[in-house]
Amino acid sequence: MAEVSFDYTNLIEVEGGITEKELSEITPRLQAAAGKLLEDEPGFMKLPETREYADACLRTAGEIRSSSPTDFIHIGIGGSALGPIALHRALNHPYYNQMPERRGPRIHFAENTDPATLAAILDVAEPEGTWVNVVTKSGSTAETMAGFLVVRGMLASTLGDFGYQHRTIATTDPEEGFLKRIADREDLRTLPIPKDVGGRFSVLSPVGLLPAAVTGLDTDALLRGAAECVREVRERGAEHPAVVGAAMHYLMDTARGRNIRVMMTYADALERVAAWFVQLWAESLGKDGKGSTPHGAVGTTDQHSQLQLYMQGPQDKVIEIVQVEEHPRDLEIPPAYEDLEGVGYLGGHTMAELLNVECDATRRALTEAGRPNATIRLDRISEENLGYLFVALEVQTAIAGSLYGVNAFDQPGVEASKRFTYSRMGRPGY
Ligand code: PA5
Repeated sequence: MAEVSFDYTNLIEVEGGITEKELSEITPRLQAAAGKLLEDEPGFMKLPETREYADACLRTAGEIRSSSPTDFIHIGIGGSALGPIALHRALNHPYYNQMPERRGPRIHFAENTDPATLAAILDVAEPEGTWVNVVTKSGSTAETMAGFLVVRGMLASTLGDFGYQHRTIATTDPEEGFLKRIADREDLRTLPIPKDVGGRFSVLSPVGLLPAAVTGLDTDALLRGAAECVREVRERGAEHPAVVGAAMHYLMDTARGRNIRVMMTYADALERVAAWFVQLWAESLGKDGKGSTPHGAVGTTDQHSQLQLYMQGPQDKVIEIVQVEEHPRDLEIPPAYEDLEGVGYLGGHTMAELLNVECDATRRALTEAGRPNATIRLDRISEENLGYLFVALEVQTAIAGSLYGVNAFDQPGVEASKRFTYSRMGRPGY
């Protein structure tokens, strides 16, 4: 069972917090939003119970893993990259690629257009043992297709056309788009991004499942946790904590002018989960002059960077702490310098204890300073808990879309810059 909980006490009890009256006034709208979501469930809610994609990914991952691969290059951007990166960073060893006993090939994310990064990947990947997964739902994102052409060139020149085709997976729309046409023409392996699942909601589709399976993560447990969240949302509707959270954050923004939502993860492993969430919230809700600005932070690091601003800066933020009860590893702090009171007290404690005490201390300090904060608690960082968390935050974002009155599933604001790029780069028709 997933162990993930949401605590909004300090959004209500803190001075200037959300009142019972506001909550009861918004309840009918929240119920309507939840009803609408459940009546016509968006594609992302169906993914956890769809075996078909997980099975296809496990089969493909099995083929890759049994070929003695050295490297796996995942090319994609935005929703086609952030989920898989979040999973990898959360669940694999922080130095996975350097570990001699890792569970799969080295993994590289060619996410940005920066040639320095892609060139660096090509410096270390061994062409003879490299697989490439090109991930784009539209099949024509310039950044992704350019990266693909570069890596394809490297593979084809080393392995020949047949070798390149054998080692390439196209994860894309099952029916249309230029990547699908290339895959058909060159007989590439394909994995589908379901038509009714948008990029930033696709982490539990083959977009996230294949790289997770290639690196040996437990995709069944990931989907189990996600399915548990879907079931709970169906059962509890507007009373599910993730749904309630949509109302809390919406009210904090629209009724309190707190239009910055900081997700502060007290675990390095979850830093990219916050980055995934930042995209989800920003691209889904930032429309028609509405939406709050999401921001990622890491505890304890950012206590020494941003906490001053959170404590005494403008009253425009909600801090959402993500706390992990049991960390995957711990280290005892050996007793030493017991005669020096500023150091000696640390001996006999553990690093995880210090991290969690600092997390509690930050929450308390924020609360006492009248700074609204919420907490998401995970008993540990596991596939099951992450599956649950991804769906909970996706549901929350979709519901927030209804409250704001915007379509959470489109992104018209990014089209203009794409058109200028196409025109400058000479794409016909632009
Ligand atoms: O969430 C989204 O829809 C976007 O962030 C897309 O994922 C991103 O623009 C990449 O699109 P595509 O997968 O079509 O290459």
